[in-house]
Amino acid sequence: MKKKKRDSGCNHLNGVVLRTAILRRHFRHLRHRVFPLVSAVSGCLLLFLAAFALLAPSPPLHHHDHLSLLRSHSSPSDNGVVEVRLNSDETPAFRVPESGGSSGRDLWSTRQSELFFGCSNAGNNFLTADVKTLPNRYLSIATSGGLNQQRTGITDAVVAAYILNATLVVPKLDQKSFWKDSSNFPEIFDVYWFISFLSKDVEIIKQLPTKGGKPMSSYTMRVPRKCNAKCYQNRVVPVLNKKHAVQLTKFDYRLSNKLESHLQKLRCRTNYHALKFTDTINEMGRNLVERMRMKNKHFIALHLRFEPDMLAFSGCDFGGGEKERNELGAIRKRWKTLHTSNPEKVRRHGRCPLTPEEVGLMLRALGFGSDVHLYVASGEVYGGEETLAPLKALFPNFHTKETIASEEELEPFSSFSSRMAALDFIVCDESDVFVTNNNGNMARILAGRRRYFGHKPTIRPNAKKLYKLFINRNNMTWEEFASRVRTSQIGFMGEPNEIKPGRGEFHENPAACICSTSNTKSKHIPIPETEINDDNKISKEDDTNKDSGYVTDEHTTDDEQYWSEIDYAEIGNKSLEKGTSGRVSDQGLVLKSDQPELLEFFSD
Ligand SMILES: *[C@@H]1O[C@H](CO)[C@@H](O)[C@H](O)[C@H]1NC(C)=O
Ligand SMILES: *[C@@H]1O[C@H](CO)[C@@H](O)[C@H](O)[C@H]1NC(C)=O
Ligand SMILES: *[C@@H]1O[C@H](CO)[C@@H](O)[C@H](O)[C@H]1NC(C)=O
Repeated sequence: MKKKKRDSGCNHLNGVVLRTAILRRHFRHLRHRVFPLVSAVSGCLLLFLAAFALLAPSPPLHHHDHLSLLRSHSSPSDNGVVEVRLNSDETPAFRVPESGGSSGRDLWSTRQSELFFGCSNAGNNFLTADVKTLPNRYLSIATSGGLNQQRTGITDAVVAAYILNATLVVPKLDQKSFWKDSSNFPEIFDVYWFISFLSKDVEIIKQLPTKGGKPMSSYTMRVPRKCNAKCYQNRVVPVLNKKHAVQLTKFDYRLSNKLESHLQKLRCRTNYHALKFTDTINEMGRNLVERMRMKNKHFIALHLRFEPDMLAFSGCDFGGGEKERNELGAIRKRWKTLHTSNPEKVRRHGRCPLTPEEVGLMLRALGFGSDVHLYVASGEVYGGEETLAPLKALFPNFHTKETIASEEELEPFSSFSSRMAALDFIVCDESDVFVTNNNGNMARILAGRRRYFGHKPTIRPNAKKLYKLFINRNNMTWEEFASRVRTSQIGFMGEPNEIKPGRGEFHENPAACICSTSNTKSKHIPIPETEINDDNKISKEDDTNKDSGYVTDEHTTDDEQYWSEIDYAEIGNKSLEKGTSGRVSDQGLVLKSDQPELLEFFSD
């Protein structure tokens, strides 16, 4: 297997990278005419080189590892390696090596992770459900979006019920989102476990009690995004008092990021302990993980979001020329409210998902060699195999659930997007290194979860910095590129304390639920000055993570806003029909308008 890969690997990689990486950008439309010629030429060249290499004295070892990118012309250099040239002699070679090189550190763990642990037990003065739940106060919610967005909603609903002293009805799942899954809560999550695990925190019932033989009806309303405890008290309690049962609709990100720490810990108890997938899902998930482990001691899981719709919405340019502009442009027309895209600007702001090829280059630069096994969780990939080819060339041990499990095994899951997403969630969660090309819900939830359960490496691209390197990569040597990628990624690797407490969505940075084993009051182990880059400056005054909790969301950055929009994105004018702009309920309470919402579309 190893041998075979070596023999064919170089050829394969040259062909594919040549084809996709280089021609794709500028000559996509010409490719069908140009490619056969170029590949014939490069094929001959490779044959010649192979012969040459056999006759020539053995070059230094590391040169064997270099795979070469051909550009306008290539020439065998003294040691038998094909160099990449632009058109002058000064331009350095960008040769992607097969091995990750040695960065001198363990790629499969984070530093100092042993000093931290998840902590979400209730404190002594936490009021339990039996003393605080008021009779005749029932809260239900309708979640929205894909599996992971729904997960945030379910988690927050438990805390909202706690704040309101209400009994929670097992949440209804969103069956109409982009992902169209007809599964109910008990078909995804272990509902008995959910109810019993939280029994001390919040009373949870499966459905509303009946009243005169009929189920109680609930009053439907919506709270603003990021509503804090006060906001729930002011808006929902009066309605509960009058109607007794309230259903909060479109319940995603409706609870503030910043809450008192006993509420944050309840969030963590819910998200990390009470929400367990059903046994059927867990078993299949464990099977997949075991199969990956049988292939190799360690593996990387990549969550790749590269669906056509998502790309169209992002407004980015992925290098596919006019064809791509036309195709994505046509999809983009679906959202009447979107501006004409400005790909340059979006990219500059670090808001473009990485292409599969870029993910591959980033991983190689970070030190992962071609022998690494990669599990890829993805939906429909725009451009299909052609788009995936450069990544597969860099990481030939490329797996998906479809490649490691049989059709029959997947049959109970395959027509349910949420169940399929749950399987990927499990594999990504269990992976030694988790990497994403995006900053959507699944990426964020898993990032937070992996912090909580021991800070396993979680690589999230610092797209704002990386994009320049990707654009200019042909001006650099591989070594320079790799070194700059490593620098750009500091603070984006899932290390303890790389994000300030309070920064980011709570689900991605559950700081209130992470304790350190050191007895010092400060939970902060300083990161050496040299490792702090601009995007991740740790300012001294922000180091005070007061236990009183946060009440505002002022730290919310532009970036979060953007990725939330991507996740919340709504199609067409559904939001208009549903009337999210201020309306007056029959209590005369003004329910203030949300952000102009676009229907959640590909929230994952
Ligand atoms: C919930 O119950 C606690 C304890 O009885 C009380 O202090 C608090 O004000 C109540 N909150 C609401 C929103 O009813
Ligand atoms: C890369 O090289 C080209 C031409 O060789 C040059 O025009 C361009 O400015 C260079 N870019 C950078 C960032 O050095
Ligand atoms: C907006 O809604 C109307 C009626 O609900 C529908 O006919 C129309 O096609 C919708 N427009 C878009 C862009 O979805």
